[in-house]
Amino acid sequence: MGFYYERVIRPLLFRLDPEKAHDFGVTALDYLGRIRFLCRFMESVNQATGGRPIELMGIEFPNAVGLAAGMDKNGRFWRSAAALGFGHVEVGTVTWHRQPGNERPRLFRYPENAAIINRMGFNNDGAEAMAKRLKASLCKPGGQTPVGVNIGKSKITSLDHAVEDYVKSFHMLAEFADYIAINVSSPNTPDLRKLQSAEHLDVLLQELTKANGNRARKLGEKAKPLVLKIAPDLSFSEIEGILQRIEAYGIDGIIATNTTIERPGPFSQVKESGGLSGRPLHRRSLEIVNYISRSTKGRLPIIGVGGVDSPESAGAMVDAGAHLVQLYSGMIYRGPFLAKQVARALAPRQKKWI
Ligand SMILES: Cc1cc2nc3c(=O)[nH]c(=O)nc-3n(C[C@H](O)[C@H](O)[C@H](O)COP(=O)(O)O)c2cc1C
Repeated sequence: MGFYYERVIRPLLFRLDPEKAHDFGVTALDYLGRIRFLCRFMESVNQATGGRPIELMGIEFPNAVGLAAGMDKNGRFWRSAAALGFGHVEVGTVTWHRQPGNERPRLFRYPENAAIINRMGFNNDGAEAMAKRLKASLCKPGGQTPVGVNIGKSKITSLDHAVEDYVKSFHMLAEFADYIAINVSSPNTPDLRKLQSAEHLDVLLQELTKANGNRARKLGEKAKPLVLKIAPDLSFSEIEGILQRIEAYGIDGIIATNTTIERPGPFSQVKESGGLSGRPLHRRSLEIVNYISRSTKGRLPIIGVGGVDSPESAGAMVDAGAHLVQLYSGMIYRGPFLAKQVARALAPRQKKWI
């Protein structure tokens, strides 16, 4: 299938403007998701790896490969992503307010480097619309495919009021999520990355963990696993500060990494602003995953993301210390069944993660 995708489908898709091609893919997946019995069947076939499920943060993952945030921004096709073989799907980033995102063009492909630059700016329908959609699609925690909801700050919300945005989105969406990803690392929302600094992160994590605890007590449930998604452009000492806060507030895991604003190697002359993802990001993401794993002695659940586009690159993430991996750009270049291929290749290693 990968062969046909790369030889036949990709050349056709790549003739389209990148965002049109994306919208086309989304529409196709949206339609597939409506045929529930077919999705359920495909899910059980394509997620299977021959290995055991992976238990992490109290969640059972059918395999190690998830769809990274940003592709299914509105929770429209988590079910079809699962049908393609993804062992978990992270929907979002969703913001409290509905917003159109940045002006087009805002998505750029670099096929010779298997890379993407995007400055989408969290275009999404807002937390309430996502909640309605997840409800209608019968998304609930504990299903066959874990669904993470990635939340961020609305553009119109100032940094001083950002925490309220996150807490409101958390309350709106927690009932549908197996875990909540706290996104403080996208480069395309003004000031968002400042939330990674000590003064802001303390307040954000304090308020979110408080909201999580209160909700759990009220409903008599376990607290929702919270994971923090970080940028690749942090220094190791900044990461160390973040890890201390993760420990202090009992955050359950970390996603490393988001896109980079660096322009390594062949990208030094590229003028487009935004976050770079795909193969040129891989090395930096690996370094960060490795750093986190060593610093936390392998005890903090790590979801490794950045340039995973083959069994080899996924294996390198696992060797660096990732418990699960996610991918986005790789699927654009290698096709819709990449997750299935990678998950099967990783399966023999699974037993040591449980
Ligand atoms: C077009 C595009 C949109 C993205 N949107 C989001 C987003 O909304 N929230 C987020 O946390 N990450 C977003 N990401 C980052 C990915 O989730 C991932 O962290 C990053 O692309 C690195 O993985 P990759 O190399 O496999 O693409 C986006 C990436 C791309 C390419």
